[in-house]
Amino acid sequence: MSKPYAGETCVLAYSGGLDTSVAVAWLRETLGFEVVTCTGDLGTTGDLKAVQEKAIASGARKAIVQDAREIFVRYFVWPALQAGALYEDRYPLATALGRPLLAKLLVDAARAEHARFVAHGCTGKGNDQVRFDLAVGALAPDLTVIAPMRGGMNMTRDEEIDYAKKHGIPVEATKKSPYSVDMNLWGRSIEAGVLEDPWDAPPRDVFAWTVDPNEAPAKPREIAIGFEEGIPVSLDGSKMAGLALVQRLNEVAGKHGVGRIDMVEDRLVGIKSREIYEAPAAVVLHQAHRALESLVLTKEALRFKSVMAREYAELVYNGLWFSAHHQDLASYVRSTQRFVTGEVRVRLDRGTSTVTGRRSPHSLYSTSLATYGKGDAFDHKASEGFIRVFGLPLRNQARTQALWGADSEAALEIPRKALSAPRRKTADNA
Ligand code: ARG
Repeated sequence: MSKPYAGETCVLAYSGGLDTSVAVAWLRETLGFEVVTCTGDLGTTGDLKAVQEKAIASGARKAIVQDAREIFVRYFVWPALQAGALYEDRYPLATALGRPLLAKLLVDAARAEHARFVAHGCTGKGNDQVRFDLAVGALAPDLTVIAPMRGGMNMTRDEEIDYAKKHGIPVEATKKSPYSVDMNLWGRSIEAGVLEDPWDAPPRDVFAWTVDPNEAPAKPREIAIGFEEGIPVSLDGSKMAGLALVQRLNEVAGKHGVGRIDMVEDRLVGIKSREIYEAPAAVVLHQAHRALESLVLTKEALRFKSVMAREYAELVYNGLWFSAHHQDLASYVRSTQRFVTGEVRVRLDRGTSTVTGRRSPHSLYSTSLATYGKGDAFDHKASEGFIRVFGLPLRNQARTQALWGADSEAALEIPRKALSAPRRKTADNA
């Protein structure tokens, strides 16, 4: 069989796992590519040297590894935090934020190697393939993306192991996780296996970063997080670099069982999927950030920003990081953050995190306006006029349309029905 791409170079996004290791050998043997691997450490890759050696052992001509942790925090994680980006109100988007950065590294490597092809190990069913393909398309529309797992390679896990052994690829003796896991410093994403039944509670072995809330320390821990313009800069009063702060918070909150998310989410490709996430730092930081915003942003800004947050999360989830729409939303978000400076106290207690205090030099909170005690500066009398004007359209409508009518029966129909409905017998009181 002739090899269609003999003489061409393909740069493969390489994790060091079995799938992408087999893909190295497969791209070479079946398609004839010279393979260069590209690995970006987003906080959980571990020993980069070992990954490099494994890539070479799998048949790569060259293995590029890069510590991208700080870039990830600064240009991906922090902007998403400032935006308040939580997909379907919950998922902090760890995997989704990592993909565009890995794609950027891949494109840079392809340029450096004068390659016309890039490859990734995503399957044809998830969001990750979309994120890779769209990011590469946006950054380098001239490159062609090859996805062996989406078609061509077609191997079961056992076949992959056989193939790896035949090709001298080291196969770890450790038992394969029964789940599909992706992780980086912003969170761990777990799917498949027994999790596919959304009624079943996740078994213990799903979790690696968080303890079971029942086994968390009985004594709560209170932490203080400092922000500057929406970016976390300190923990318990000491300044910390972003990367260290996220790592530390993952440990501390994880130890108290905080950061577990169990949800059914809507994938871009149209299927519902049961997902478990562990994201201790992300959960706590989003909560704290929101609490600080509630102190320094106006009501209108908060309301509009929550609309933007949803849009931003959607865009990240759907792989549109490198789009003009993102640039525009990001500008708005950045502008909203200029007063988001201050400190937030959070109590970690057996699986829950609760904001217990917040303060800021730009706080809009005014005790003299809010107080029910001494020193009240609010003009109670002025409320009369305010309510008269605010209620004007209601009174006008009442006079002209009699919405709730003279017929008070009709007006009360719904609540009356609810009150007079016979109480349903339940198992308890039967
Ligand atoms: N559902 C999440 C997302 O789309 C997590 C995907 C996890 N990826 C994986 N290869 N296990 O972002």
